[in-house]
Parts: sequence; structure tokens; C-alpha cells
Amino acid sequence: MSQSNKDSRYLILQTPSKEEYKITVHEGDVAILAKDLAQIKLKTSTNQEEKQITSFDPGFMNTACCESTITYIDGDKGILRYRGYPIEQLAEKSNFLEVAYLLIYGELPTATQLETWQERIMSHTYIHVTLMDYMKSFRYDAHPMSMFIATMAAMSTEYPESNPTLTRRDLFEFDHRARNQQIFRILGKAPTIAACAYRHRIGRPYNYPTESSRGYSYTENFLYMLDRLSEPDYRPSPAIAKALDVLFIVHADHELNCSTAAMRHLTSTRVDPYTAVAGAAGALYGPLHGGASEAVVRMLEEIGSVDKIDEFLSGVKSKTRRLMGFGHRIYKNYDPRAKILKEYAEKVFAEVGRDPLIDIAVELERRATQDDYFVSRKLYPNVDFYSGIIYRACGFPLDMYPLLFALPRIAGWLAHWYESLREEKSAAKASIPGATHVMRARQTYVGDVNKELPSQEERKDISNQNKSLAALKTYHSNLSKRRRAPGTAQRV
Ligand code: ACO
Repeated sequence: MSQSNKDSRYLILQTPSKEEYKITVHEGDVAILAKDLAQIKLKTSTNQEEKQITSFDPGFMNTACCESTITYIDGDKGILRYRGYPIEQLAEKSNFLEVAYLLIYGELPTATQLETWQERIMSHTYIHVTLMDYMKSFRYDAHPMSMFIATMAAMSTEYPESNPTLTRRDLFEFDHRARNQQIFRILGKAPTIAACAYRHRIGRPYNYPTESSRGYSYTENFLYMLDRLSEPDYRPSPAIAKALDVLFIVHADHELNCSTAAMRHLTSTRVDPYTAVAGAAGALYGPLHGGASEAVVRMLEEIGSVDKIDEFLSGVKSKTRRLMGFGHRIYKNYDPRAKILKEYAEKVFAEVGRDPLIDIAVELERRATQDDYFVSRKLYPNVDFYSGIIYRACGFPLDMYPLLFALPRIAGWLAHWYESLREEKSAAKASIPGATHVMRARQTYVGDVNKELPSQEERKDISNQNKSLAALKTYHSNLSKRRRAPGTAQRV
């Protein structure tokens, strides 16, 4: 919360008993401190007990939980900027590792800084053999994202000296070298874990990363680990490596989305960054967050041809269907990332061949953006509308899509990790309430308040047995049905 001009404006809130409270409006982000509401006390309607007012916001529809200088979004105008730089310029002129540096350290690197940064990350790409052995123990058809999450969490066991639980609580707050070491490791090793998960899924032996002397870029090294068979000098397609790099740039950060909020939440406990990144990746795995690009491809496949679009849109308008890849909580205009990817899709097709789904997508977008149903609700394509088609054209299987989103988003998670650790120090100075605390939400309790515990005897009400068991009903696999078939002998 910016402390400048802090008392320039305020709101007056009046209680039903005509008491007035002055709530300061902080400049810049036009926010009030939720803590200021606590000075207002109201009697509850049930038992007239006096209680502090709390803000109630279950889906975080209008609650800021931190100050940040990383990513700026203006959803009404369709603007996205990292550290002030427009996403369009970064996608055109930068590369993923440079953008990761910008996000984490706040400034564009100088040429020497960039060289050192790239060298540091690319020399941390090897993972410990025990991690590779761990990955080999997953089921043959394990989802790559599940393998990634579990292995990232397991990485914390490799570096006990970097675990604040085992060393010191404030390990990362005052030691920038320790912070950097984790950043290099996580950014360097994440593509290796992702590539092993992919190779495991398709039954191929894992590849080691390329030697740094070969000078492969971040995405080239990733593609090498995905695709190399026995070729000693395999080099992936420069066009696909570039396309992936652009996809990585536009996915690198998006301020306080669900997974980044999860990263900050976990960081507030001072847990080690491997566990925190695994937790954030868990949030991203959900179909309402990182799963939409896959849903778009499935939707386009189902529509199948341009002449079926109207029928599909009728279903959307009658609310039996949802137009995946459209709409956004923040953007009430064209998502700038979708604009970049729409153009990029054509460049990719020029290299790898046109994906027929693009014609359906472009026509679907044209018709939807001219239809009053979508226009009046401000529904436009979001980043996922075109990313999935590019992944598909580049030959990635559907279950890799969430991972292709998670890999670049790690840069954003680490930027927020870094910022919240630094915030720890500056917040303490500026005395922003809550900023140095463990993130812990409040609830409004609406359950029973005071009940007498009945004895086991009193709970033996036979007439209620069926009712109480209904809550415990479950499904049984065919295997269990056979094992528990009537007449099976079981020792009780
Ligand atoms: N298709 C059809 N109608 C839609 C869509 C859509 N994709 N999105 C929103 N609407 C309609 C809603 O039905 C609602 O209509 P109503 O006013 O008649 O009830 C209105 O638009 C407002 O929608 P909300 O659900 O309130 O919007 P919200 O901001 O909560 O949801 C969300 C945003 C979840 C992204 C939504 O637009 C959606 O489900 N889109 C499809 C899934 C998707 O593409 N997700 C990826 C998001 S980007 C990302 O995570 C990287």
C-alpha cells in the first residue's frame, strides 16, 4: 500500500446507529485497508453480540493482497505490460530468458548481465539421478503435469541447506545469493523434469540436457530433451523453438492469477521454493486455470467444420455450451496475448503446415465478435484461444499443454517469490499491516455455535442408520466388487 498522500481522501461509513467512521482511501490503486474496517463494530442480528466488520470476498473478486511492480494489466483497454514494457514489444524483440530476468529483477539486463544469467541457468539444467529414478517409478501412463508437480516438490529433498525449515526462517530474506541459487536451479531444471515426464509418457528413455558449450537457447534445449533419439548432434527446428519462446514470453506472468496467488500464499509460510513452486503448479493444473487451451482444441475438433459454427454458437447462447478460450475475469477487451498468438499461428503454419482447426477458430471468432450476445458481455478471445492450436500444430500431445503453460509461468512465480521476500523487509519498515504475516484468510462462520456432545449410546439410533451411511456412499471398482462379492470369505 503506497504510503504517499495517504490521508488525502477518505470514505465516511455510517452504521445503522448513526456512528461515523473515516476510512482512508490510498492513492494510486484506490484501495482501502481491510484492517481499517475492523474499527467498525456492529451488533449481530442473531444474538446482538458486538463484532468487528470483515470484508467478505470468497472468489477474491475485489481484494488486493499485495503491492506489486511486476505486471500491469488494464483489462478494459486490453493492455498487458511486464515492468512497464508492452507485451507486444517483448514478444517481438526479446527472448524468454531476458523476460524472466526482467520479471524477477525488475530491469532489463545489460549485455553482460544477460550473458551471465543465461550461462547460470543453462549450467543448472542437470537433475540429480535420484530424481530421474523417482520419475521412472511413476505409472507408464502418468500425466506429465502430475509427475512434474511431484518431482518439483521432491527437489526440496535434494537441497536441505536451502530449506528454511531446516536452516533458518529468514534464509532468503537477507541473502540474495541464496535466492539466486534457487532461481537458477528451478529455472534450469524445470524443463529437464518436464522433458523426462514427456518421455516417460511416450515410453522413451530420458535425455540429458545439451552441454552448455553448444549454446542452445532455453527452448532449444527443452525441445532437444523432448525429441532427440540417437542423433549425436540433434538440433530442433529454429522456427518451433522461436514459436515456443514467444509462447513462453506471453505466459510468463499475469499478476495475481490463481497459481501466482498460491505461490505468494505458500511463500508467506517461508516454505522452501521447490515446495512452493509445486503448490503453484498444482493450482495451475486445474481445468479452470491452465486447462483451457486443451478444452479449446477439443471444442474445435468437436465443431469439426465451419458450417457447424452457427449451431455451436446457438448452444452457447442458450447456455448449454461454453465458448472455451473466450472471456476473462480481468480482460473486458481483446486479450493482447491472443492477438500476438493469432499472428504467430500463421508463422508456425508456414513452417510446419497449416492446422485445419485454425480456419474454424478464425471464423468462430469472427462470428462471435459480431454477435450481440458476446459483444454485450464483453467476451473476446483470451490467450488460450490460439495457444492450443499452435501446440497442436507443433505436435504436442494434449496432456503436455498444462506443462507448456507452467514452465514459463515459473518465471512469474519466482518474480513474486522474490518480490514478496523483499517486501518482507520494506513492509516491516513501512509498517503495512499484514504484509509480513502468514497469509491467512478469515471466514464468516455460519454453522452451529454450541452443541452438547452426545454419548456413543445416544448415537446408536437404529432408525437413523441408513441416513447416516448415505453420507459415506462411494464408488467401487470392478476389482473390489469381485473381491467383495457375496460369499467371499473374509477374516473379520
Ligand atoms: N462462453 C459463453 N458465455 C460466457 C463465457 C464463455 N466463454 N464466458 C462468460 N460467459 C457469460 C456468462 O455466462 C455470463 O453470462 P450471463 O451474464 O448471462 O450470466 C457472463 O458472460 C459473465 O460471465 P462470468 O462467468 O461472470 O465471467 P467470469 O469473469 O467469472 O469468468 C471465465 C471468466 C471463467 C474465464 C469465463 O469467461 C469462462 O469460463 N471462459 C471459458 C474458459 C476459458 O477460456 N478459460 C481461460 C481463461 S484465461 C486463463 O486462465 C489463462
